[in-house]
Amino acid sequence: MVDTETQRTGQQTGAAIEIDGLTKRFGEHVAVDNLTFSVPIGSVFGFLGPNGSGKTTTIGMVLGLIPPSSGTARILGNDVRTDLPDVLERVGAMVERPAFYPYLSGRMNLQIFARQIGRDDQERVSELLDLTGMSERADAKFGGYSTGMKQRIGIAAALLDDPDVIILDEPTSGLDPAGQREVRALVRRLADAGHTVFLSSHILGEIQDVCTHIAIINRGKLVAAGRMDEILEASNELVIDIDRPEDAGSLLSSVDTVEDVHLENGRVVIEVPLEHAAEINARLVQSGFAVSQLRHRERDLEDRFLELTDQHTRSELENG
Ligand SMILES: Nc1ncnc2c1ncn2[C@@H]1O[C@H](COP(=O)(O)OP(=O)(O)OP(=O)(O)O)[C@@H](O)[C@H]1O
Ligand SMILES: [Mg+2]
Repeated sequence: MVDTETQRTGQQTGAAIEIDGLTKRFGEHVAVDNLTFSVPIGSVFGFLGPNGSGKTTTIGMVLGLIPPSSGTARILGNDVRTDLPDVLERVGAMVERPAFYPYLSGRMNLQIFARQIGRDDQERVSELLDLTGMSERADAKFGGYSTGMKQRIGIAAALLDDPDVIILDEPTSGLDPAGQREVRALVRRLADAGHTVFLSSHILGEIQDVCTHIAIINRGKLVAAGRMDEILEASNELVIDIDRPEDAGSLLSSVDTVEDVHLENGRVVIEVPLEHAAEINARLVQSGFAVSQLRHRERDLEDRFLELTDQHTRSELENG
């Protein structure tokens, strides 16, 4: 069965963006290193990575602004390098803080922008001012807007041509918590309206809050990609409240399925496949320990992100 989204885009793959072996070298420095992942149609996709990890460079390649050293990027099936005009028709982007005229209103700026892309449509501009929550201040000078308002005008500009795919590079950077919340709400509205949204960030909380899928990169390399719930669930850590934690720890160290045993604030923390939890509990009780609690470590994305990027950095250093 072909769903309506697939019909709309004419794609069989279900991918809004497909990145395959994408690499960018600046001289000796490999800024983006053989990245491969895809962004499902209809997803809100978070592209996470520490400063300098290659997010903006990747987005630049996806948008045809930066030529890759090797690899390909496709948007809705079109190769960015060979079918750029088709790509640009389907995608709207806000990469850097966009340049607008400070002495003109937000509305006027958008109208000028609209004319430039051949879409002289005042109604569309009003609609977007509504969508971005800027209607009330639309006729005030752009230069007088707060950072968050400027950002929202930038997003409105990216939406002018009603793109299927929206790419936002750090849309909440420089915003206060209220501004960040507004942008998140806007991203949700865009997703509800059927757009695929790809946004980069190093602010984990907001990605966790709003995204259905993520890719995590570190030093230009992919660390993890997939559905948010799957990436968060990948924890094997069991936290055990128990009497005589040191003795319990040494008992558990001898169990085959248990990978790592350490103590944290008087609790035993072990790494073990989740399905072995009951067996571990039975083993402890049989050996005369009083187990008062045994639970999986709740993960939030921040823990997971730091853990994955730390692991990745360590193995990179070890392997040279
Ligand atoms: N034009 C360029 N010439 C040389 N090196 C570059 C160039 N553009 C980016 N780099 C380097 O490539 C790496 C990745 O940069 P990039 O801007 O893509 O990272 P980022 O993840 O977007 O970082 P941030 O979170 O700070 O925005 C960095 O080490 C950067 O210094
Ligand atoms: Mg960047």
